[in-house]
Amino acid sequence: MIKGICCVILAVLPYIVMCNPGDMRFEIEAVAVDEFSQFSEGDLVADNEGYIMSSLDGNTKISQWDNARIWPGAKVPYKIFDVEDDEEAYYLTMYAIDAMNAVGCVQFVNETDPKEDYLNIVLGDSLSSQLGNQRTGAQNLSITRIENWPNAGLNSGSIMHEFMHSLGFGHEHNRPDRDTYVEIHPDNLINSDNEPYFFKYIPNGDFNTENLLDYDVHSLMHATSFIKTLAVDPQDPVITGKNDNGYLGQRNDLTDLDKERMKITYSCGVCTGDNNDAIFRYPGDCKKYYICDHGKPTTMTCGAGLHINTKSGACDWPKDAGCTEFSTY
Ligand SMILES: *[C@@H]1O[C@H](CO)[C@@H](O)[C@H](O)[C@H]1NC(C)=O
Ligand SMILES: *[C@@H]1O[C@H](CO)[C@@H](O)[C@H](O)[C@H]1NC(C)=O
Ligand SMILES: [Zn+2]
Repeated sequence: MIKGICCVILAVLPYIVMCNPGDMRFEIEAVAVDEFSQFSEGDLVADNEGYIMSSLDGNTKISQWDNARIWPGAKVPYKIFDVEDDEEAYYLTMYAIDAMNAVGCVQFVNETDPKEDYLNIVLGDSLSSQLGNQRTGAQNLSITRIENWPNAGLNSGSIMHEFMHSLGFGHEHNRPDRDTYVEIHPDNLINSDNEPYFFKYIPNGDFNTENLLDYDVHSLMHATSFIKTLAVDPQDPVITGKNDNGYLGQRNDLTDLDKERMKITYSCGVCTGDNNDAIFRYPGDCKKYYICDHGKPTTMTCGAGLHINTKSGACDWPKDAGCTEFSTY
């Protein structure tokens, strides 16, 4: 209840209490998109403005600053191609959906006639996704059979990787701090000067490691060492771990850290343990947040015109809340 009062005070005296979290966006320019067919970073489709935005605090997520790309209420309605179109691809995708839902956080929900933004799972000529909810009604997640697609070969882990992109998670190996942990081998890259898949996000704002989860070389979102379409010699790695110089990458399952990121980003399991007194963003809606009431999350709404600022833990002017909403339809 204290937070509710705080909102009222904020509405009256915003200039006194607001804090400026800074612009924490990472931007990759549209130029990257054409370098690797139409895809940036290998399998990410740019948004309507040609941008792929990612990673607050290098944490392989877009969510903190851009709640608008998060799926409201941690729910992703989807439609999927007919089972007759490709039975194996269909069941692999279903298996991937079950595995995503089993994390117990974001739920992918079959809807034949979705009224909100939804994921349209199609059979296409790429294994790819856009980053987060584009707020365009339908958005494609494409499954393909094309051989040699980077990191792919059709398996449920590769499909889960795309689902993670659709939830707003970028590539682990694009983190600003990646050079501490991995080494890229440009000598073995066909496009050695400018390989979009290995771009490193440059934070434009304060780079704050406070909220970073550990760098995870085993993440489902990390590059694998052997990528035959990018390598001069496919027998040699294009990226290796620095600590043990080991080979990297797997496309089997989410790691514990992958799941942890999902839970933080989508405010799942709020009001447990040490988090009991905190407030939590309500996914995908800048105006709402959770407070904990005797261990139970209660949804609250900011005062008129205000957005939740999860850094300061209070309602704030939208431009300072690090949370933008867009309405493109
Ligand atoms: C989705 O729901 C429709 C209608 O209830 C059903 O016919 C279809 O089999 C379901 N598809 C999946 C993938 O569960
Ligand atoms: C989505 O996929 C469908 C089916 O493959 C295709 O016809 C459509 O053009 C795609 N839409 C976009 C925006 O790529
Ligand atoms: Zn990817």
